[in-house]
Amino acid sequence: MTDEARRLIDAARAAATNAHAPYSRFAVGAAVLLSDGSIVTGANVENASYGLSLCAETVAIATVSASGRLREVVAIGVIGGAMDAAGRATGDTPVRPCGRCRQVLNEAAQMGGRDLAVHCAGAQGDAIASYRLSALLPDAFGPADLGIG
Ligand code: THU
Repeated sequence: MTDEARRLIDAARAAATNAHAPYSRFAVGAAVLLSDGSIVTGANVENASYGLSLCAETVAIATVSASGRLREVVAIGVIGGAMDAAGRATGDTPVRPCGRCRQVLNEAAQMGGRDLAVHCAGAQGDAIASYRLSALLPDAFGPADLGIG
């Protein structure tokens, strides 16, 4: 695992402890790396009206955008796993971003002119899968299609 991946996976695992996931009992954490080396995190936020739930990656990117730094996103780490009775995420199977999150990540990628690194891991263990966003969402629709960016 590279230093970048290690740092992001560790931060994502810490973020997942704040997941609000009483319905799925599947905790997800995300950690976004900005170009100055700082990290912004997010965790999934479920809702009693199930379809309103927010994914960890989307929460993290929205937080980055709220501080005006969408163009500075370089990479993201994502982890997740089923919660045990104590509410801790478990398992070592890497969690990859859902389709909607890939599109949300693409907004940051295209606005910043970068092909983001996406590091995926489970709640525990050293198994990791690293991708470029362009491999996870090829031929993406984005700001450039609307003449923006
Ligand atoms: N989830 C994420 O936070 N990110 C993903 O990329 C996939 C799914 C969350 C949504 C829901 O709270 C739980 O995982 C189970 O689907």
